[in-house]
Amino acid sequence: MNVLFIGDVVAKAGCEKLQQVLPTLKRQYNAAVTVVNGENSADGNGITPGSLQILFDAGADVVTTGNHAFRRRECYDAFETQEFLLRPANFPASAPGKGVCIIDRGAFRMAVVNLMGAVNMHPQLSDPFATMDAVLAELAQQGIRTVLLDLHAEATGEKRALAFYLDGRVSALVGTHTHV
Ligand SMILES: [Fe+2]
Ligand SMILES: [Fe+2]
Repeated sequence: MNVLFIGDVVAKAGCEKLQQVLPTLKRQYNAAVTVVNGENSADGNGITPGSLQILFDAGADVVTTGNHAFRRRECYDAFETQEFLLRPANFPASAPGKGVCIIDRGAFRMAVVNLMGAVNMHPQLSDPFATMDAVLAELAQQGIRTVLLDLHAEATGEKRALAFYLDGRVSALVGTHTHV
């Protein structure tokens, strides 16, 4: 099964490019699931209902975010109502939305998890390592063992540390935020 992951799509130009190329990329890679990081899809960063819709219309099955998740107040409702829009799982429980969703295609079920690094970002967030332990325990209870993690983080060291920590426990870990 192929999963296509697109890092931070930035502003109007990024959204337009995604609209142009995503259908072709999905065919080219025979992508069963497509995940796009959309935290900068609004002009001037953040995500708006309009930019979110562009990402979904372009072919994203799941949209992840990060430190700019709540930059735009007009998107708070979407975090509560859109099943496939995620904010980092280690945000406070009182924050709008959730950090995990389940794609159910009948033939397979797969979890997408959005997580944020603490180093040089927001040290007051819950520990990403402990958060993943809890998330994976919960998913295991639901019988879900296919897990894609978007780790939205600044420090390569923290990303590597989590990769070692989660080795064999997630299906794939990808990094966003650095816009590389
Ligand atoms: Fe970003
Ligand atoms: Fe970011």
